[in-house]
Amino acid sequence: MFASLSPRPADAILGLIAEYKKDPRPQKIDLGIGVYRTADGETPVLNVVKQAERQILESQTSKAYLGTAGEPSFNAAIQSLIFADSVSGERLTTVQTPGGSGSLRVAASLLQQSATVSPVWVSDPTWSNHVPLLGGAGLELPPYPYYDTEKHVIRVDAMLETLRTIPKGETVLFHACCHNPSGLDPADDTWRAITDIVVERELLPFIDMAYQGFSRGLDEDAFAIRHMAERVPEMLVSSSCSKNFGLYRDRVGTLSVMAADAATSATVASQLSFIARTIYSMPPDHGAAIVSTILADDSLTSDWHGELADMRQRLRDMRELISNALHDKAPDHDFSHLVRATGMFCFLGISGEQIATLKNDYGVYLVGSSRVNIAGITPANVDYLAESIAAVL
Ligand code: LMR
Repeated sequence: MFASLSPRPADAILGLIAEYKKDPRPQKIDLGIGVYRTADGETPVLNVVKQAERQILESQTSKAYLGTAGEPSFNAAIQSLIFADSVSGERLTTVQTPGGSGSLRVAASLLQQSATVSPVWVSDPTWSNHVPLLGGAGLELPPYPYYDTEKHVIRVDAMLETLRTIPKGETVLFHACCHNPSGLDPADDTWRAITDIVVERELLPFIDMAYQGFSRGLDEDAFAIRHMAERVPEMLVSSSCSKNFGLYRDRVGTLSVMAADAATSATVASQLSFIARTIYSMPPDHGAAIVSTILADDSLTSDWHGELADMRQRLRDMRELISNALHDKAPDHDFSHLVRATGMFCFLGISGEQIATLKNDYGVYLVGSSRVNIAGITPANVDYLAESIAAVL
């Protein structure tokens, strides 16, 4: 049986971790997978997470099953973090999922339960796992224009033009903030224009929000979701606590489905329960228990806001730093888009050959699209990084 299988190439992002770990060079720099790092290059457990874990350790009396939708207080807290009061709660169903990826997978199954399975339009480019993950679940994923690789701007006109041609009722996947991989998000006015088309064409918005709080702030980063929620009858939102709570390996996410009315919402809840049961039965609890402990406590919530703001600020500072360093070391090249982008990522805009030379000759690791994780930059490595980039240009 297994002898007939052929090996698969390593995942573009995960494969790089293994290569980086094996590299003995002390000056090596990891700009690959999207995890936050401090100026010391660590991905720490947030202080507020440690505090919540201590409380859970003391107070938790059972590890009995919670059910297919996970912890209700966690779901309610995340629902309010995403939607605030933009839509009546009776139209929303939020379920806990194993990370943002688990949420996308459940959403894909939900779409496939509906009477006509619509393709899901994805930005060109999009997160490199969107296509295997949603495509592997059986969805067709046509692209809509997004990033101009020459000018390093969003192709707003081309994107809106394509959205206007999408057949009525089809689904469109958007990134709420910190677009992965480009780091360029539509301005609020562009979101308004997108929403007008979504309403006019009766499209189903499916919004992935893996980085709430990493761009402008928790509320600002939910602008597109809340603006659309007030105007469209139905919507899907996948969210993740991997980055903003630093709970990567605990796998904490949610899927929120907005239906036109309360009765449809109850049907959606039953479908989501069925889908979870048939894939993983129930989501893992520990990370969600941490998040609900934090969000139920004003003082912990305020500490979390502080830690999140620090991560956001460090990313902004590193953008400035690398952009200035590149300006010094490679004055003939324009890297101004590095500071126009927000969140963890941006494209460097260099060729596959240059990316390979950066890895082989300088120990600088970035994924093949030239996506850079800004969190891998530190005041200590920025000069070496800028010199290495300048050397391969
Ligand atoms: C990334 O894009 O690097 C992150 O979302 C981590 C992942 O799973 O790919």
